[in-house]
Amino acid sequence: MNHPSDTQAQVELWRSERQTAVERALSTWVVSDAPGGLGEAMRYAVLDGGKRLRPLLVLGTSEAVGGATEAAMRAACAVELIHAYSLVHDDMPCMDNDVLRRGKPTVHVQFGEAQALLVGDALQALAFELLVPESSVEPRLASDLCRLLARAAGAQGMAGGQAVDLASIGLALDQTALERMHRLKTGALLQASVLMGAACGHVNATTTEQLRRFGAALGLAFQVVDDVLDVTADAATLGKTAGKDAAADKPTFVALMGLQAAQAYADRLLSQAHEALQATGLARVEPLHALTDWVGRRTH
Ligand code: IPE
Ligand code: IPE
Ligand code: MG
Ligand code: MG
Ligand code: MG
Repeated sequence: MNHPSDTQAQVELWRSERQTAVERALSTWVVSDAPGGLGEAMRYAVLDGGKRLRPLLVLGTSEAVGGATEAAMRAACAVELIHAYSLVHDDMPCMDNDVLRRGKPTVHVQFGEAQALLVGDALQALAFELLVPESSVEPRLASDLCRLLARAAGAQGMAGGQAVDLASIGLALDQTALERMHRLKTGALLQASVLMGAACGHVNATTTEQLRRFGAALGLAFQVVDDVLDVTADAATLGKTAGKDAAADKPTFVALMGLQAAQAYADRLLSQAHEALQATGLARVEPLHALTDWVGRRTH
């Protein structure tokens, strides 16, 4: 039987090995020789710095359901490329107007606004290109992965949530409206990461539903924690500007319910995520439980 600290060491090893593999795959797929300096700017946006939570969720879920490894790594990188593009655009002057991301000047600060726009465009296209290789991913699986990612990235997901975010500046959203915004702008891609991992293997409808609930709770918790960290952490730790939600008059869980209640709410959501994961009855979910704990403990 494992001692708890052995289990902890194992999941940390699991995480660092997968992070390294994702980093390597991203570096292979995001090439520097795109014209007009675009490749260099794309690599700047994607490599060196992200926590890679979304790829880890894809890989962890796929491994829990015995998924196809090549498809899972492609899905892991595809969702990270969509996420990286969303950050580049989120930071632009027309959106959150941020100058610091992942501890570096933002893409538009480094390369100019037009190039930042194009980096987002190109990363989005590359994400879908990765999901449909000529061979090595079964066509039905490739189309399922594309559908899941497109849905989560688009108007009914991240992009729609970002539109609500910008339309909500200065408004006091109630909890229902705030949850909807957070589920769209951030939760959708995190939930899609879980569902894309599940699609790489074979799971019945009941298990898929539990995984959907796991992803939904984790996804919402993640943005509640992001709201909390914006208030409690400093820029050096965050790698991005601190205190910017209040400065920009954004509705957040901290603004809605106060710091302590927001932290407690995140904890409740994370417990729901653990419960849903437990209810799947899947073996080999330890890395996913550990990622859930990590979301609650994260400092950036
Ligand atoms: C930041 O996401 C933006 C949100 C959706 C809250 P992450 O905190 O996952 O950012 P990186 O990828 O680690 O930089
Ligand atoms: C970002 O939300 C959600 C995205 C789709 C990128 P935030 O605007 O709160 O993310 P940060 O705090 O800038 O990373
Ligand atoms: Mg934003
Ligand atoms: Mg922002
Ligand atoms: Mg934020």
